[in-house]
This record gives sequence, structure tokens and C-alpha cells, in this order.
Amino acid sequence: MKVFIFDTKEALFDNLANKYVERIKQQPNINLGLATGGTPVPLYEKLIEDHKTNKTSWKEVKTFNLDEYIGLPEGHEQSYRTFMNNVLFDHIDINKDNTHIPNGNAKDLAMEAFNYDKLLEKNQIDIQLLGIGTNAHIGFNEPGSKFDSNTIVVDLAEETREANVRFFDSMDEVPTTAITMGIGSILKAKKIILVATGSSKAEAIKNTIEGPISTSVPASILQAHDDVEIYLDKEAARLLENK
Ligand code: PGA
Repeated sequence: MKVFIFDTKEALFDNLANKYVERIKQQPNINLGLATGGTPVPLYEKLIEDHKTNKTSWKEVKTFNLDEYIGLPEGHEQSYRTFMNNVLFDHIDINKDNTHIPNGNAKDLAMEAFNYDKLLEKNQIDIQLLGIGTNAHIGFNEPGSKFDSNTIVVDLAEETREANVRFFDSMDEVPTTAITMGIGSILKAKKIILVATGSSKAEAIKNTIEGPISTSVPASILQAHDDVEIYLDKEAARLLENK
């Protein structure tokens, strides 16, 4: 694992956005694994800015999102499909047919999960972007998840629902289930970049990087992948002993 600690969020996302732009230029048909949540939004803003000013093209890029809520009506403001359209896809020249997100409204969710893994097998992810939950979940793989799991339907932990209630009007509206790339699916990416900002992530980050590999800390399995970069601001890094 390589760990990069930045004094400010601004410096972190400048650096990360430059890295993405360079990779897209080197490999215009790159397969990018993308993440939702608040953390990656500044990265997406910078990539949109770059597309507008420098005309970096996303025409051949394919994207694969980690997860989707189950049960939100199509077009719901907080479905991850709508979210990704709003924060990135609608502002760049990507072909929407090349943007993949599990369908949380599929009639047969087990089949949807199976087909999503088939899609990932055909399109190995070059760089998988990850945020991290306060309980160290990756995707929606909550503590206790198996490290070799494929894409699956999961129950959301109460801690996750509480962390995400800020995007909804009330707790009742926060879905209780989701479909997520499994940890096994995530680990197949060639490279993984995990980003964490803010003090609330400090404990999860410490356990992920300096703790033992344990299913109670899902992100700790990243220690076993041979190309992982972790981007942190000072606050998220504050509990690390070895900086
Ligand atoms: P956040 O979510 O970026 O909104 O903090 C991260 C996650 O739950 O993986």
C-alpha cells in the first residue's frame, strides 16, 4: 500500500485529478471503477473542469460503479444513477452506454448481480476508486462481509444508513438494502485508489492501514492487493502512528 497524506483537501484532489487526466490521456479506452458518496465529488468537479478547459476526451472511457440502492424509483434524486449523471456524466463527453451501474430495480436482483460480475470479467477495471465508510466498508460491503464475495444484494448497516441520511429527507427514506460489487469483485481491479477525507474517517483508516486484516474491517483486505494507493487529508490521517 502506498499512502499519500495531503495538508489540504484541495491539494489532495488537485493531485488525484491530475493523475486521472494523465491516465485517461495515456489510455483513452480505460476502464474506470467509480464510487459515489460525498468524498469523490471534488474529484469529479476537477475532472469536469479539465474536460471543459483542456478538452480531455472521455468518448472511449468505460465506467463501472460500485453499487446502487435497491428500491428507489428510477430517476430518484438519490439513486446512484441520477447522482453520477449529476456529478459527472452529464458534464463530459462520455457515451452513456459505456457507464455501468448495477440496476437496483431489476426484477431478478440475483441475476443482475451475476450479470454485473460477467460484465466485470469482460472488462477488467484498470483503476477502481473507493471511498470508505466510518465502519471501513468498501462499496456497500459492511463489516462481516466475505473477502471473496462476488456482486451481491446486501443489507445496509445502521451506521451506513445514518451516515447517508444527510442525502434524504428522513431516516425512513434511506433504503435498507443495496446491490454492491463484492469485495472479491473489487480486488480484481488492476489498481485501487482509496480516498478518505475528514476526521470521521480517521479510525477506519487507522484500522485499514495499521490493523490486522479482518472481516470486521472490510477495507483491511486491501493490504493484500499489490497495487493500492490511499489518498488522505491530514484529518483522515490523524490517528496513523506511522506517517
Ligand atoms: P462518503 O461515503 O464519501 O459519503 O463519506 C463513503 C462510503 O460510504 O464509502
